Amino acid sequence: MEDIEHFAKAMKLIDADGRRLDGRKFNELRPIRIEAGVLRRADGSAYMEWGGNKVLAAVYGPREAHPRHLQDPARALVQCRYNMAPFSVTDRKRPGPDRRSVEISKVISEAFSSVVFAEQFPRTSVDIFIEVLQADAGTRCAGLTAASVALADAGVPMRDLVASCASGKIDGVVCLDLNKDEDNFGDADCPTAVVPRTGEIVLLQMDGHLTSDEFEKAMDLSIDAARRIYDLQRDALRRRYSVTLEDILKESPPVPSPMQPEGRLPSEDDFGPEGI
Ligand code: CDP
Repeated sequence: MEDIEHFAKAMKLIDADGRRLDGRKFNELRPIRIEAGVLRRADGSAYMEWGGNKVLAAVYGPREAHPRHLQDPARALVQCRYNMAPFSVTDRKRPGPDRRSVEISKVISEAFSSVVFAEQFPRTSVDIFIEVLQADAGTRCAGLTAASVALADAGVPMRDLVASCASGKIDGVVCLDLNKDEDNFGDADCPTAVVPRTGEIVLLQMDGHLTSDEFEKAMDLSIDAARRIYDLQRDALRRRYSVTLEDILKESPPVPSPMQPEGRLPSEDDFGPEGI
């Protein structure tokens, strides 16, 4: 234990040029890729890669809520299940829910409950499934961001997408989007989710300690990053739903002309007694 503490103290997470272990500056995000509509069975879905994180999100509903005693006659339930695959982390994760995944599922459900127009769908539930296939810190932000695209892909009416990002403190410097080493050996991590159009905060957590100045800096970084992530979310949806002339032709190729190989028009003799 002492060895680890000594190692953590000796480990430099930011070099003399202000670069982090993976070469990023304090306000840089890891590379992000989002694809919408990747699963056929779900009503809506999205896949996201965010640095070393790989996350799938699937959405069902609004559909009749089960069991029935959970139904709310005034609004839809927004339910989320965040799950980490056993192979998603270095040490195999025991399958099934644990305290951490129950907590993350709860805060993500609450974040979406505040943006979905739940009162339009009484007695129903909107079910969000987040599967973390590979984890490298920031999986709740990646899961929430992907789930937001999946909800839009499912056509669930919402006030806006939700975009999420964390900021934290490493080597005494406030930085955006911590990776696994920074999360393990850093001083604090503060995941945030915002409704970019209104600037509303729908998720805010903190692991570690920040002074109020540091907290403000972290929030500024996260909110600015959320705007960039929002653009990537909308791009993914545009790619999914924009249709080009080429796509239309691929779906229904033009009907071949009725000309015969020799260039003559078909005569009645070309068809049987019942016609074609
Ligand atoms: O993933 P996120 O940052 O939202 O949550 P966290 O509880 O701060 O976890 C940080 C990271 O620790 C995860 O992304 C995983 O890479 C790692 N982790 C792990 O290795 N084994 C676990 N059972 C849980 C988390």
